[in-house]
Amino acid sequence: MDQSLEHFLAELEEFGQANDRSISDRPLRMLNITRDTGEFLAVLVHATGARRILEIGTSNGYSTLWLARAARELGGRVTTIELSEFKVGMAAKNFSCSGLAKTIVQIQDEAGQVLARQDDAAYDLIFLDSERPEYPGWWPDIRRVLRPGGLLVVDNATSHPLEMAPFVALVKADPGFSTCLVPVGNGEFMATRISPVGV
Ligand SMILES: C[S@@+](CC[C@H](N)C(=O)[O-])C[C@H]1O[C@@H](n2cnc3c(N)ncnc32)[C@H](O)[C@@H]1O
Repeated sequence: MDQSLEHFLAELEEFGQANDRSISDRPLRMLNITRDTGEFLAVLVHATGARRILEIGTSNGYSTLWLARAARELGGRVTTIELSEFKVGMAAKNFSCSGLAKTIVQIQDEAGQVLARQDDAAYDLIFLDSERPEYPGWWPDIRRVLRPGGLLVVDNATSHPLEMAPFVALVKADPGFSTCLVPVGNGEFMATRISPVGV
């Protein structure tokens, strides 16, 4: 375990919690995943051998770093999408400080538009942690860009069940996917693609 990276992650946790306790304006909150969710994501990357990872919702890059540390050990990389210029800047600094910048590709844009530009089956693992009402509209592209056997992980399934309900219903009704709910952190809704490309 890289102790300086461990220390840096702990610093980011403290910063995110203190920031979000003192600020109610949503665009300025970090809204980071919990540490146990980060550990869970890292295990998933290793267990599935995911090398092409897409994250939707970078914020200041806390979750990205958990994904990227695991991806680096596999020779993979994380592409992470964020709309807010302010947060893209914060994340860039954090990626640089972490030593993981070479493993991360940052895209500053609206996630739906980025998804529409991605190739079919381009990703092994997608981590979705963004604006929940948008998810149903993004689903056709998310399902298209996830490779067969690939894994979708969606945060806040137990912390915000009502907001997540339309998306969860959509994915569960899709015969091309097998799903489950994992009660770690804020609740991870997971779906793996069992249908082949184009189906
Ligand atoms: C819950 S936060 C992400 C937290 C981050 N995954 C972490 O754990 O460190 C959600 C982020 O999605 C961004 N966002 C919201 N709508 C977006 C959109 N349409 N396209 C891209 N990013 C968006 C927000 O600016 C916010 O930073």
